[in-house]
Amino acid sequence: MNSPKAIICLASSSRISFLLYSLTIICLTSATVFASSGGNETDYQALLSFKSKITEDPYQILTSWNHSFHFCEWSGISCGKRHKRVTAIELSSKSLRGSLSPHVGNLSFLHYLSLWNNSFQGTIPHELGRLSRLRRLGLHENKFSGVIPQNLSGCSNLEKLWLNKNWLIGSIPKEMSLLSKLTGLVMNDNKLTGGIPPFLGNITSMEMFTATGNPLGGRIPDTLGHWKSLTLFYSGECNLNGSIPPSIFNLSLLVTFSLSANHLTGSLPSDIGNQLPNLEGLQLWGNELTGVLPPSISNCSKLVILEMSENNFSGKLTIDFSKLRDINLIEMSNNNLHGRGEADDLWFIESLKNCTKLVKLEFVNCNLIGVLPVSIGNLSHQLNSLYLRDNQLSGSLPSSIGSLVGLTTLGLGRNRFKGKIPTTIGNLQKLQRLSLTNNKFSGPIPDAIGNLSLLIELYLYSNKLEGHIPSSLGKCKKLDLLNLADNTLSGKLPWQLPKLPSLTVLLNLSQNSLSGSIPTQIKDLKMLCELDLSYNNLTGTITSSLGECISLTKLYLSGNIFQGIIPSSLSSLRGLEVLDISHNNLSGKIPQFLDKWNSLEFLNLSFNDFEGQVPIIGVFANSSLFSVLGNDRLCGGLVTLKLPKCKEKGGKKKRFPFFILVIVIAPTLLIVLCCVYLLCKKKRNSQPSQSSGNERFLKVSYNELLKATDRFSTANLIGEGGISSVYKGIFDSDDDKFVAVKVLHLQNRGAHRSFLAECEAWRNIRHRNLLKIITSCSSVDFQGNDFKALVYEFMSNGSVHDSLHSSANTSKLNLLQRINILKDVATALDYLHNHCQKTIVHGDLKPSNILLDADLVAHVGDFGLARLLGTDLNQNSSTGVKGTIGYAPPEYGIGSEMTSSLSSCMYGKAESNCKKERCMS
Ligand SMILES: *[C@@H]1O[C@H](CO)[C@@H](O)[C@H](O)[C@H]1NC(C)=O
Ligand SMILES: *[C@@H]1O[C@H](CO)[C@@H](O)[C@H](O)[C@H]1NC(C)=O
Ligand SMILES: *[C@@H]1O[C@H](CO)[C@@H](O)[C@H](O)[C@H]1NC(C)=O
Ligand SMILES: *[C@@H]1O[C@H](CO)[C@@H](O)[C@H](O)[C@H]1NC(C)=O
Ligand SMILES: *[C@@H]1O[C@H](CO)[C@@H](O)[C@H](O)[C@H]1NC(C)=O
Ligand SMILES: *[C@@H]1O[C@H](CO)[C@@H](O)[C@H](O)[C@H]1NC(C)=O
Ligand SMILES: *[C@@H]1O[C@H](CO)[C@@H](O)[C@H](O)[C@H]1NC(C)=O
Repeated sequence: MNSPKAIICLASSSRISFLLYSLTIICLTSATVFASSGGNETDYQALLSFKSKITEDPYQILTSWNHSFHFCEWSGISCGKRHKRVTAIELSSKSLRGSLSPHVGNLSFLHYLSLWNNSFQGTIPHELGRLSRLRRLGLHENKFSGVIPQNLSGCSNLEKLWLNKNWLIGSIPKEMSLLSKLTGLVMNDNKLTGGIPPFLGNITSMEMFTATGNPLGGRIPDTLGHWKSLTLFYSGECNLNGSIPPSIFNLSLLVTFSLSANHLTGSLPSDIGNQLPNLEGLQLWGNELTGVLPPSISNCSKLVILEMSENNFSGKLTIDFSKLRDINLIEMSNNNLHGRGEADDLWFIESLKNCTKLVKLEFVNCNLIGVLPVSIGNLSHQLNSLYLRDNQLSGSLPSSIGSLVGLTTLGLGRNRFKGKIPTTIGNLQKLQRLSLTNNKFSGPIPDAIGNLSLLIELYLYSNKLEGHIPSSLGKCKKLDLLNLADNTLSGKLPWQLPKLPSLTVLLNLSQNSLSGSIPTQIKDLKMLCELDLSYNNLTGTITSSLGECISLTKLYLSGNIFQGIIPSSLSSLRGLEVLDISHNNLSGKIPQFLDKWNSLEFLNLSFNDFEGQVPIIGVFANSSLFSVLGNDRLCGGLVTLKLPKCKEKGGKKKRFPFFILVIVIAPTLLIVLCCVYLLCKKKRNSQPSQSSGNERFLKVSYNELLKATDRFSTANLIGEGGISSVYKGIFDSDDDKFVAVKVLHLQNRGAHRSFLAECEAWRNIRHRNLLKIITSCSSVDFQGNDFKALVYEFMSNGSVHDSLHSSANTSKLNLLQRINILKDVATALDYLHNHCQKTIVHGDLKPSNILLDADLVAHVGDFGLARLLGTDLNQNSSTGVKGTIGYAPPEYGIGSEMTSSLSSCMYGKAESNCKKERCMS
């Protein structure tokens, strides 16, 4: 009977009739109902105002907010049973966009307001401070900006306040300390500054405090020691300095204590483990803490996570882990945990026997000295990562290592292990990454390594391994990186290796004693990026089948005994950035295609027997990008090479001076040349070695992408399509440089092909108006499924589609900007169609594939449907409609071939000489 409709009618009618109606109500019902009917109207108006500020509501949640129902029935609204006033608003994860209406401050009976995981923007209205009954306020994971309003202190009954993952700035207002009932304050991932204020210590009810990921700065106030009920304390990455006040270690109810990645100094109290007996998580990595790791941690029997990496802790580790039955993860890397003199820094491994839940053990670069005990094999079967890299472990690797059947990653590189690699390594059936580099392992590579069918990366370089490369490696069908360099391996290159289609990142067999010729099967390594066979005893010619390894970006064949010419088939390696074939017996002319590869960054032809003219264009135009030293029969080239001039063909005139030259000037010239040669040789020797700069490209693993995108969290999802999802991410190494990570949905038809097409397209192109690819990742996820992703530069202004269709005024493009975008796209297409080696047809050009960077420069992206005209790469791609309906040229619909011609956009028929600019204008 109190329907909102009736109220509306009343409100619009005359004041007199309203009074009459009120009188009637007084007569009919009790006085309490009347009193609340005024409040009802306020609530109703407040909710309407709330709705009016919502600009996007994709799930149409708020359509139910209409006159047909009382607002207590509206979706997301709860009311008090008796007084019918709004008591709770629950609208989390509804993809709502808009701002938060200040009228919400009028919902005076509200005790619960949750709007988390939407896209609310603008400031948090200070009117919320009028909600004195409010107990829980969840505004997290939105886009709220501005400061935390002081008035929030008016919510005197507030118990939990979530503000995390917004864009809040300024300092934590002093008035917050008046929230005397607050038990949870969650503010992580904002831009708050001004330190953790000491007055917060006055909120003695505090149980959970989270400020991680704010540039707060300052010290941890010792008043926080008043938080006697505190169980969770998260303030990692807050730029905090100074030491941790002793009062904090008095908070005996603490369960999680996390202050990672700050600048904290000082040492931990020796009694920490006895003072904090409830600790489950102790995360202090990435600080400047000193002193010993207190042995009392042995008494934290509930500990699950212990992360102490990257500090200056010192002295032998004397923590006894045997009581820590629940421990899951121990990270101690980059501390100096070597004791004095004794070589038994590893005794703690014995104490880990009973930790049956241990998943990860990381002691990288801890200066551990000693022999790995046999009891290493008694660690948990759950253990999946064991990192002991960069220590001084010596002796042989115990064969008990084969008992750690849960391992997916084993990193023992840069130690002093010697003896044979135990064959039990073949028992580690789940192993994906194995590194034993930079040790003194000798003997053969065990055949059993072929049993590791999930192996993705195998690093055995810089040891003393001998014998043949086991052909069983051909059974590691997931291997994408194999580095066996710098050993004394002999015999022929096994032909089984090229049969590994997974080998995409690196095959490095350099600096061994391998003999024979390159097997023609090498052509099967179609996806391999880097091949290094340098410094072996390989003979024969450079096989022309290498030309089929079309993904190669780096090819090293130097320091072998190859002879013959550079095969012309290599001309198809257009993505090559480094080609080093120096120190061989190669002969013939410098092939013409070399000067046309515009991706080439270094070309080394030195110390061979090439003859004829050195070109002066392409890579040959810049003397720092190539070397032709030690090829006595070359001529021409850049003046700085000081090579003899080439003789002109059939010129009779030339013969006479040449005659004189031979008789008279030759000896002089010979001396001069010798001097030049010696000088140049000296110069060359002082050049940095070829391997430096090899790691120019970021190589990423699944794990790194996982971290960079916060476990592919939906908060970072910036786009989703049929065959891929795009996430925003950030790598630790590059602090403020965002990237876009496109993850292919490999289970969907076409995703795989799209990945290949895109890789192939990107390999050949580079242009200011094309989206720049940073790297690709072809790996497996933690469940062992194939995982493929491409990493691009992040375009902060989103796509043209978004800009055109966004409702926000700030992103509206003006005419000039639009014209510039058109120009950028036209330039990109001109490049793709006319200036690449092979014409590339994008095939899916549309506003959502045109992205805008911070300066609104347009970059064309998404080459998932691209084709290289004239290659057979896409022959198996399906015919039918390509591209997006509405944007694809009409002739595709009738089965026409793809062309670069844009004429159809204007004339509706193919007219090959149509000028692109006309179409775009
Ligand atoms: C009002 O809300 C109801 C319930 O969601 C809905 O079925 C109806 O279509 C809405 N009416 C209008 C006019 O939007
Ligand atoms: C509700 O709040 C708004 C803004 O805070 C205010 O203008 C209005 O007067 C308030 N009262 C009612 C009854 O709507
Ligand atoms: C905190 O409490 C102390 C006394 O308990 C009081 O003197 C001080 O003013 C309070 N600080 C704030 C900011 O409320
Ligand atoms: C820790 O608590 C004890 C007992 O409650 C008290 O005597 C001591 O002063 C406190 N230490 C610090 C540093 O606050
Ligand atoms: C661990 O706790 C026991 C019992 O409280 C105590 O006797 C022992 O000294 C503690 N160990 C360390 C290393 O603090
Ligand atoms: C491991 O646990 C057993 C009982 O489950 C116990 O007898 C043994 O002492 C423990 N080992 C260590 C090293 O604490
Ligand atoms: C440790 O492992 C070895 C085999 O590597 C086994 O014989 C021994 O019983 C194990 N000891 C314990 C305490 O589990």
